[in-house]
Amino acid sequence: MTTLIQVADIAQYEGQEVTVRGWVYDRTDKGRLQFIKLRDGTGVVQCVAFKKEMPPEVFEIAKGLAQESSVIVTGSVRKDERAPGYPGGYEVGISQVELVHQADEYPITPKEHGTEFLMDNRHLWVRSSRQWAILRIRATIVNAMRNWLDDHGYLLVDTPILTPAAGEETTTLFEIDYFGEPAFLAQTGQLYNEANMAAFGKVYCFGPTFRAEKSKTRRHLMEFWMLEPEMAFFSLEDLMDMEEQFVSHIVKRVLDNHRMELEIIERDVSHLEKITAPFARISYDEAVERLQKLAAETDDPEQKQLLQMQWGEDFGSPHETAIAEMFDKPVFVYHYPTAVKAFYMQPVEGRPEVCRSVDLLAPEGYGEITGGSERIYDNELLEERVASIGLPREAYAWYLDLRRFGSVPHAGFGIGLERTVAWICGLPHIRETIPYARMLNRKYP
Ligand code: 4AD
Ligand code: MG
Repeated sequence: MTTLIQVADIAQYEGQEVTVRGWVYDRTDKGRLQFIKLRDGTGVVQCVAFKKEMPPEVFEIAKGLAQESSVIVTGSVRKDERAPGYPGGYEVGISQVELVHQADEYPITPKEHGTEFLMDNRHLWVRSSRQWAILRIRATIVNAMRNWLDDHGYLLVDTPILTPAAGEETTTLFEIDYFGEPAFLAQTGQLYNEANMAAFGKVYCFGPTFRAEKSKTRRHLMEFWMLEPEMAFFSLEDLMDMEEQFVSHIVKRVLDNHRMELEIIERDVSHLEKITAPFARISYDEAVERLQKLAAETDDPEQKQLLQMQWGEDFGSPHETAIAEMFDKPVFVYHYPTAVKAFYMQPVEGRPEVCRSVDLLAPEGYGEITGGSERIYDNELLEERVASIGLPREAYAWYLDLRRFGSVPHAGFGIGLERTVAWICGLPHIRETIPYARMLNRKYP
């Protein structure tokens, strides 16, 4: 009697005969002993074929297995502290091996490969433990985000991807031909979220968003996933209160559920263990002052040059990194200059050169992970702003309607999934946070 099991559950089957279906992650040939690391998607388990313990033809199959061949292995589970694998600590003493498919020579070997090569083979690279760990954490982050919102009275309402109008800067639009008329891939779901907010109170959308970012950075993708909550009668302070609860919950879920994956990617979890509400809140004015002071005090001329900035300019990555380094948790920067932010942001009363916006900057140099604001709810002011972005008013008529029928103060933000994954996993580049990255020089595979 054998039981078909998943590697993740192996500990429950000590002493039993089991069957595992999967792929050969690695094989070590020790003559009469073959050590096969078997990967089934839920984990990796070491399986040992001992020549004496099986018919010769079965041993021959085991001995001939190429990396990434697909197999069905049967054997008995024994506890062994030293057995490698994920979760590890158990191995399977093989009695049967069925070869499903003998793989061709696999391009990704345990030796080092260049990143471009790995990205060209991304469809295979996703099988590697490190990528496996990252994408499992990504799935949990999505789940944690959605659970928190669902548990706190937010309704998921989907927003369209094919849109007639820009939601953010018109310079990063992907234009497509919509039966002879121009349309754009959504940069954000926000404008529709605002309509949905008036129908349901607290809503969120979650989906792919698109930006034709013509720069190569380790923080930008052309296609990324964004989750955007939008709340009626919310102020900027309400927004920050909510965001810090939300973000700490996500980090906690990853720490609670993914110690093994964090170990695989060698993440120093002490950074994550500090992430609890509240987070520091500083104004843009204060951030600029701090940066100017830092620039003045530093002895490193290169750093001085990088940090130099004037009030009114947007932050670049070196500025965001320097601000974030002043704190060991994420930090809110609020009231940015109106000129560097989107058209829909509410100006600060009595000081219209700054707006009711807030970005959350992650620690360890990961930069902005969320961007949000109070929205303009005065019809006339919004009319002016729409005119200023230079797109046809007709395309925004529905959006302007929202300020004519029960307009309310409201606020919302967007959190970039890949930026969040990069930060939580401590990755050097955003390309590993998404299964198939779309970048300036890459849309394959
Ligand atoms: O700050 P952004 O542009 O804000 C908006 O789109 C608002 N409409 C959101 C809202 O208020 N509902 O983008 C929000 C977040 C950023 O903080 C960042 O995490 C991520 O989306 N993001 C990107 N991630 C990867 N690649 C890019 N090119 C990104 N652009 C923005
Ligand atoms: Mg932003």
